Amino acid sequence: MRFFSVYDVIFYVAKERGHSEKDVYAFFRKFKIKKKDIEEYKTSGVIPSDLTLIDAILSYTEMSMIELELKMGRIPRGYEKVFIDKTKDIADLLSKNKNETYPILNINVPPFFETELGKLYSGDCVELLKQIPDNSVDCVFADPPFNLDKEYDEGVNDRLSYSDYINWCIKWLDECVRVLKPGGSLLIYNLPKWHTYLSNYLDQKLNFWSWIVVDMKLSLPIPNRLSPAHYSLLHYVKGSKPKTFNNQRIPLQTCRHCGGEIKDYGGYKSKMNSKGVNVSDVWSDIYPVRHNGSKNRKFNELPVKLLDRIISMSTNDNDIVLDPFGGSGTTFAVSELLKRRWIGFELGNCEIIKKRLTNKEKDKKLLEKVYKEKNKLFPDKVKELRQSNGFWLSEDF
Ligand SMILES: C[S@@+](CC[C@H](N)C(=O)[O-])C[C@H]1O[C@@H](n2cnc3c(N)ncnc32)[C@H](O)[C@@H]1O
Repeated sequence: MRFFSVYDVIFYVAKERGHSEKDVYAFFRKFKIKKKDIEEYKTSGVIPSDLTLIDAILSYTEMSMIELELKMGRIPRGYEKVFIDKTKDIADLLSKNKNETYPILNINVPPFFETELGKLYSGDCVELLKQIPDNSVDCVFADPPFNLDKEYDEGVNDRLSYSDYINWCIKWLDECVRVLKPGGSLLIYNLPKWHTYLSNYLDQKLNFWSWIVVDMKLSLPIPNRLSPAHYSLLHYVKGSKPKTFNNQRIPLQTCRHCGGEIKDYGGYKSKMNSKGVNVSDVWSDIYPVRHNGSKNRKFNELPVKLLDRIISMSTNDNDIVLDPFGGSGTTFAVSELLKRRWIGFELGNCEIIKKRLTNKEKDKKLLEKVYKEKNKLFPDKVKELRQSNGFWLSEDF
């Protein structure tokens, strides 16, 4: 199912009737509705609650509310039972009118760059994904552009309408679902706003596993809204459960000044695993790549620690990780160091990735730093601090 906004439906009708944008807004002005009132629905999938506006839309499109909802790609509210009861009639009607087919491309493009473990292809992931066989990849991680009007390399449009963005996401998501092996994991990193739609869609294809909150360290206030303070990392699984789920352990949260624990663990101290606490679905220990010395490009680069957690959690040695939105190549760099095989796509500059993978020293050091804290209840420095301030250590029990 494709998604359309009210705005799309209005202009779909306008196109059919040969009306210009000016004609459309002139019609709505008769109802005292301004251009900006309509344009608000360009970036939202909501049906307006303003009765004058909805009346005007129904009047312009000459549709009933039921038809409008159907045009938007949803079952009209209150008609779910009829829909279920009449699925045979609907199926007959649809199969008589099938006209959209997905071409299966058989072009074998050579990779832009390859290592013993992986291959990077330059191009549009929607097309390249079609060349990957069904059920062949153990884990897909995707960090697409968030449609925030950011400047990317040529060919990337980060300012789509609400429905164009979601429908574009559905195109690559469908392919990701197809290429995933049974039991494989799909992890997508995006803004909560987009994930409310994408998870709704994915619920029809895969099994929901987690909605992970990745604490955003820097957030700017937005008028009339709570300041956004997290990214969402969705985890879905093909089949009833993941074939690989490696528990990740991290240190207990402590005060960086005195080393004392932040939460009160009361009588549970003695039961704590000396290898650390299980990672929950709130990740507040991930920090953005800020220092110019650590960056491989100016913008949009995820930290090695995040990719280590994702890849270590959902795959084992030699498994295949696919990332359709390579960016600076963090997924591939971490896959290399963790001895996973990988497949990558990138529409923009692939040279950055090639350079990064040709000299892995910087990423190796970053990963070593991550492992200094992994699988330990208290990293060495915290241990010293706690000892000098008289706090308990797991050895005390
Ligand atoms: C948010 S960045 C990914 C950053 C990456 N995770 C990292 O850590 O470096 C998204 C990337 O997707 C690329 N991109 C956008 N549309 C694409 C498409 N259709 N096919 C392949 N890559 C695309 C952009 O050029 C950009 O580099």
